[in-house]
Amino acid sequence: MDRLVIEGGVRLAGEVAVSGAKNATLPILTAALLTAEPLTVSNVPHLRDVTTMLNLLAQMGVAVSMDERLGVELTAARIAEPVAPYELVKTMRASVLVLGPLTARCGEARVSLPGGCAIGLRPVDQHLKGLQAMGAEVAIEHGYISVRAKRLKGARIRMDLVTVTGTENIMMAATLADGTTVIENAAREPEVVDLAHCLNAMGARVQGAGSDVITIEGADRLHGARYRVMPDRIETGTFLVAAAATGGSIRLTGARPDVLDAVREKLREPGAHVTTGPDWIALETNGALSAVNVRTAPYPGFPTDMQAQFMALDSIARGTALVTETVFENRFMHVQELKRLGADIEVEGNNAVVKGVAHLDGATVMATDLRASASLVLAGLIARGTTTVDRVYHLDRGYERIEEKLSKLGARIRRVR
Ligand code: EPU
Repeated sequence: MDRLVIEGGVRLAGEVAVSGAKNATLPILTAALLTAEPLTVSNVPHLRDVTTMLNLLAQMGVAVSMDERLGVELTAARIAEPVAPYELVKTMRASVLVLGPLTARCGEARVSLPGGCAIGLRPVDQHLKGLQAMGAEVAIEHGYISVRAKRLKGARIRMDLVTVTGTENIMMAATLADGTTVIENAAREPEVVDLAHCLNAMGARVQGAGSDVITIEGADRLHGARYRVMPDRIETGTFLVAAAATGGSIRLTGARPDVLDAVREKLREPGAHVTTGPDWIALETNGALSAVNVRTAPYPGFPTDMQAQFMALDSIARGTALVTETVFENRFMHVQELKRLGADIEVEGNNAVVKGVAHLDGATVMATDLRASASLVLAGLIARGTTTVDRVYHLDRGYERIEEKLSKLGARIRRVR
C-alpha cells in the first residue's frame, strides 16, 4: 500500500494547473447511458473514482475508449446489463448515479444499496422518492435497489433536503421522461450546473440549474455530444489552503474563481491576500494567519469537502476557531490524526473547537476518507520533521498526482510503495 512521506516546513511557491472536477466528471460519465450515440468527455481527471466509474459502465456494455490526453469516448449503443454490483458500489458511493439514467433509458435498473460510509450514513431515500414520483416502482431486494418504469413521467418533486447526487439522478432521469419535471429544493452546486450543460449539449432541455428549482422537459431521445468538464473547485481550494498554511504564495491556472466565493472569503478573513482573473486564482500571505470559523452548508455556503483542510490551517493559526459540520454527521475523522501531530482540537457533536498551537510535529497518520487524507497532507506540510500519510489510495480517489503538483510548488513529498 502506498504512503506519502512529507518533510514539513517548506513555504509553497509557484504555479500549478487545476485538474477537471471529480464530482462533475462522475455524473457526466453516467450521462452517456442516456444515448446510443458517442459522448466524448474531455478534461477528465486521472483518478481512482473515475476508473471505477469507467469499469462500471464498461461492465454494463458501454464501449469506452480513451485518448492520450485523457479524453474519454463512451458509447452506450446497447446496455447489456443495467446493474451496478455490490463490489463496485461498495468502493464508490457515486456508482448510485447510474440509477436515474438506467431507469430512463432501459426501463429498469438494479443498483446495490450503498451502505454506511466513513463520513456518515448517507441514505438514498431522496433519489428513490424522486423516481417513485415519476412513476417508477422501487423495491429493495437482497441488498439491491430494483427500479422499474416503462416510461418515466414528468412530475413535480420537492426534495426534503439538499442532495447533490440525488438532484443529478433525478435530473438525468427526467431528460427522457414523458412530460416536464420540476425539482424543488434542488442542489445548486456548480457540478450540478456542469452536468446540466452537458445534458443540454446532448439535446436535453434543462433549465434553472444553479438555482433551487430545476425544470426538465423530457425528450424522446438524446444524441451524442462533446463536453469539457469544469475545473475542480475542491482541488483548487485544497492547494490554496496548503499555500496559506505554509505562509506561501501560489497561482493556480485553469481554475474557476467564480465558484469559490465562500472559500476565498474564508481565506481572506484570517489575512491571506487572494487575487483572481478569469481563469486563475492566486494567494499570498503576509505573516501568520488568524483562526477562522467555518460552518459547512450546501452551495453557495462553505463546502463540506473543504472542512478538513481548514481545520489543518486553524490548528496552527493565531487564536481559536469553531468548525461546524452541518452536511454529514460523521466528518471529523481527521481530528484524531491531527491531534497525533500535536493539534489542540475538541469535538462536541458537530462542532470542533480548534485552538491554534505554535507548531505541529511530524508523525505517522492515516485517514479513512478522501478530504480527511488531504487535511493530513496539509498538516504534514506545516509540521516540523517527517510526516507519513498512510493509505494514500483515499487521496488517489480524488486528487490527481497530488505529490507531483505539491513538489512543483517546492514541497518535500514523495510516494513510497
Ligand atoms: N441524504 C439523505 N438522503 C438522500 C441523499 C442524501 O439523507 O437521499 C443526506 C446525506 O446523508 C448527507 C446530506 O444529505 O447527510 C447531503 O448529501 P448529498 O446527497 O448532497 O451528498 P452526495 O451527493 O452523496 C456529493 C459529493 C460529495 C460531497 C457532497 C456534499 C459527489 C460524487 N459526491 O455527495 O463529495 O461531500 O455531495 O457536497 O458528487 C468528496 O468529493 O469527497 C465527497 C464526499
